[in-house]
Amino acid sequence: MTGASGDEAGGRDSGPPPHLVPYQGSKRRLAPAILAQLGERRFSRLVEPFCGSAALTLAAAQRGVADRYLLADTYAPLMALWRQVLASPMTLADEYEALWLSQFGAGAGHYGAVRARFHDEPTPAGLLYLLARAVKNAPRFGRDGRFNQSADRRRHGVRPDRVRAQALQVAALLCGLCDVTTDDFRLVLEKIQPGDLIYLDPPYQGTSGGRDRRYVAGLSRSALAEALRPLVGRRDIGLLVSYDGRTGARTHGDELPLDLGLRRVELPAGRSSQATLHGRVEWTVESLYVGGCLG
Ligand SMILES: C[S@@+](CC[C@H](N)C(=O)[O-])C[C@H]1O[C@@H](n2cnc3c(N)ncnc32)[C@H](O)[C@@H]1O
Repeated sequence: MTGASGDEAGGRDSGPPPHLVPYQGSKRRLAPAILAQLGERRFSRLVEPFCGSAALTLAAAQRGVADRYLLADTYAPLMALWRQVLASPMTLADEYEALWLSQFGAGAGHYGAVRARFHDEPTPAGLLYLLARAVKNAPRFGRDGRFNQSADRRRHGVRPDRVRAQALQVAALLCGLCDVTTDDFRLVLEKIQPGDLIYLDPPYQGTSGGRDRRYVAGLSRSALAEALRPLVGRRDIGLLVSYDGRTGARTHGDELPLDLGLRRVELPAGRSSQATLHGRVEWTVESLYVGGCLG
C-alpha cells in the first residue's frame, strides 16, 4: 500500500466509470461512498470476489486505486462475459448488436428463444442481451440453475452503440491489468497477498433460496463470517464488506457478528422507491464493514 492518490499515480480519468452489465443490486451508485473509505491509500491489487457487474472495480480502476485487479464470481457465463470484453470488446459488441437487431420483426417469442438457446449454449452476448431485456435487469434462477427471468416487454434493451462504447471503455481501463476467475470466494480469500484490497458484496440474505433465486449460489452468514475471520486483523491488507441494510426502521438482513471486530459504517443509499410509491418518504442505508488496515 502507498499513500499516493489515484491522480498522482496516473488514475485514468475523472469522468464516470464505464457501465456495461446491467445487474440488479449493482453497487454503481454506492461505489463513490465505498471508495471514500480508502482516503488517499493505494493498493497493489483490488480483489472483488462477488463481482457481478464489477461496479466497484470499474469505479476504483477509473481512480487508479490499484495496480492490478481480480474479478471473481461463481456464475460462469458472467465471467465468460468479463473475459470476452477484456480480450475482444468489438466481438462482444458485434454479437450483442446482431441479437439486439434480431428482436425487431421477430415476434413475441424472441426473448424466450434467445433464453432457450442460452440454456443450451451460454454465450457472453446472450447473457448481456438477456440481462438488458430482463425485468429490472434482474437475473433469476430456477432450481436447475437456469436463468429463468422474463422479459420486460416495455423496453428493447440497451442500444448496441452504447454497449460498444462501454465495452471499449472497460477494455481500455482494465486490459492487461485484470485477471478473471470463477473460483468460489473462499478459494480467492485463501490466496490474498500483502498489499491487496478486498471488496466483498455477497448475495443478500433471504434472496438466495426458494424457487426463484437471485443468484445461482446462496451463502450463509456464518460461512461468510468464518471466511472473513483470518483477514480482519491483518494490517497488510484492506477489507471492505457490504452486507445488511435498512429502510427507515425496517432492516434487511442480520448484521455481521460483532466478535469479528469489523468497524460498521452506514452509507446513504437513496430514497426508497417502494415507499415513494405509497406516498411516504423513507431513506435506505446500507452497512459497510471495514477491516484490515482500514479498520
Ligand atoms: C450481490 S451480487 C454482487 C453485485 C456486485 N457488487 C455488483 O455491483 O454488481 C453477488 C454475486 O455473488 C455471486 N456469488 C454467489 N455465491 C458465490 C460464491 N460462493 N463465490 C463467489 N461468488 C458468488 C453471485 O453470482 C452474484 O453475482
